[in-house]
Amino acid sequence: MPKTEQYSPLPPWPRTDYCGAIRATDVGREVALWGWVQTRRDHGGLIFIDLRDRDGIVQLVLNPKHDGAAHAAAGETRSEFYVAAKGKVVRRAEGTANAELPTGEIEVLVSVFETLSASAPLPFQIAEADATAEEIRLKHRYLDLRRPEMQRNLRWRHQALQAVRSHLDQNGFIDVETPILFKSTPEGARDYLVPSRVNPGKFYALPQSPQLLKQILMIGGLDRYYQIARCFRDEDLRANRQPEFSQIDIEMTCPRPEDIQSIAEGMIASVYRNVLDVDVKPPFARIPYAEAMERFGIDKPDTRFGLELKNLTAAFAGTSFKVFAEILARAESVYGISVPGDHALSRRELDELTESVKSRHAMGLAWIKAAEGGWQGPIAKHLSDGERAAATAASGLKAGGTLLMVAGPPAKVRPVLGDIRLQLAAKFGLDKSDALKFLWVVDFPLFDYSADDKRMVSVNHPFTAPNPDDLAMLDSAPLEARALAYDMVLNGQELGGGSIRIHSRELQLKVFELLGLTREEAMDRFGFLLDALKYGAPPHGGIAFGVDRICMMLCGAESLRDVIAFPKTQKAVDPMSGAPSEVDPRQLKELSIKVTS
Ligand code: AMO
Repeated sequence: MPKTEQYSPLPPWPRTDYCGAIRATDVGREVALWGWVQTRRDHGGLIFIDLRDRDGIVQLVLNPKHDGAAHAAAGETRSEFYVAAKGKVVRRAEGTANAELPTGEIEVLVSVFETLSASAPLPFQIAEADATAEEIRLKHRYLDLRRPEMQRNLRWRHQALQAVRSHLDQNGFIDVETPILFKSTPEGARDYLVPSRVNPGKFYALPQSPQLLKQILMIGGLDRYYQIARCFRDEDLRANRQPEFSQIDIEMTCPRPEDIQSIAEGMIASVYRNVLDVDVKPPFARIPYAEAMERFGIDKPDTRFGLELKNLTAAFAGTSFKVFAEILARAESVYGISVPGDHALSRRELDELTESVKSRHAMGLAWIKAAEGGWQGPIAKHLSDGERAAATAASGLKAGGTLLMVAGPPAKVRPVLGDIRLQLAAKFGLDKSDALKFLWVVDFPLFDYSADDKRMVSVNHPFTAPNPDDLAMLDSAPLEARALAYDMVLNGQELGGGSIRIHSRELQLKVFELLGLTREEAMDRFGFLLDALKYGAPPHGGIAFGVDRICMMLCGAESLRDVIAFPKTQKAVDPMSGAPSEVDPRQLKELSIKVTS
């Protein structure tokens, strides 16, 4: 801590350059810098300091013969002291250049040196943060943010959003802000609630997305809207989910799905071009939901690798293998994945896989190996030659390969194999490929049946328009009706999703009814939308992208936390501030709230 009389909140001189930006072309220039001491080395009188700012590192040299006071001041610094230095850019001595540093050909011969702010001993070294527990890094996020990787990620995030804004602006979209204190907007998660002091017993809900507001903006005549919107969802967290995240939220009037998709593709291509200088080529492949489930067992397929699911039901139609025969007698099915011989699976690995299927999905896994002497494995002896030939043809199994099979209802079996497919890809490193496999999943079903709630639920959200070709099915077979909904997927991650919306009040009421809402409940929760739909609501549709997800993919990060300045942990906690925390009982009283646990 400098003595009070030395303390100044103002910089001692203007900065001329960022440390990391100085190059050999600057040799001879006088520069004025400030930054953090990354390392200090004393070499027989000379002091070398690696000075770091957001652009990178430059080497300072302090020679006692050149300036004794500067040398003495530098000698007192330690890691992460914030210092200012003035000096001359010189070429490094023959043989001492550092090819790994962009500034490695030069150094700054310092004539004036000042510590602006000292640092306490560090909880972890910035350069060794990778080896530090994430909880500690998040507790001291101000130190963690100084890491070059975090600096790069946040810069790329900024550049990505610049590209997004510019693309949408060029296409006539207007940025409109929508409220954070609002009414529940269902997107399938729990709401974060905010009590209203002036309306005791009443609550705002933080928006899970601005879905209803953007629809109302279309009814309000904005025609094309976008917003980088904050969204809040109280749901179980994973590496690709945060309770508070950002969306690129888009809505337009009178679009066809392909109009929205093409604007979105152009936007993503612009992000990749501007941030990574990578050429992404639209249009992206379209895969109907039913096909994605059939081939990949998931609605966000990673198509960087094969290992596709194959329907083997017909191959085992007349089997005498009891387990399959009983399942097929119930008109269920057998699906399999054929794993080529160059990805050999040992007996132990197969046992582990079987165990994980059992514990994660409560289902059995059957396997056989196409070994040289014939099929091997616990069930091989139960299968006839005809079944072997048919299963080989249907699965594409080759000599040396392994066939993994799961039998049961297709709606259960395919996601289990989809999960196995991803586990295998991770095991074989196929998910490390840096190929960019963008695609659209289209033709989602409108509804799904929730066994827990014993009613139909929306696959997307309740405002999604049914495919006009399937309207009649709303009465006869609603679970088979398709929605005009689409998701953009990259390498197995859902980047964004959207739909054409319902703009007819009657149809919206009918969908609410199918979802089990009474007319009163529908009016109570969505009366403002139903009212707005009375007054010449234009057809409209849109999409929303997860900003954090896009940035995670751009940066090759493992977790959203690496592309968010102040993320929450898996337990929805901010270790730095300690949020969420208890509040003063007086505040609770003002809000008419009693804590019961
Ligand atoms: P959806 O719920 O699919 O659609 O969300 C759109 C995109 O937001 C991202 N996302 C998340 N990112 C981080 N953490 C989360 N918890 C999280 N949840 C979602 C994903 C996802 O693809 N209103 C609709 C969009 C529309 O219909 O226009 C919506 O919010 O990348």
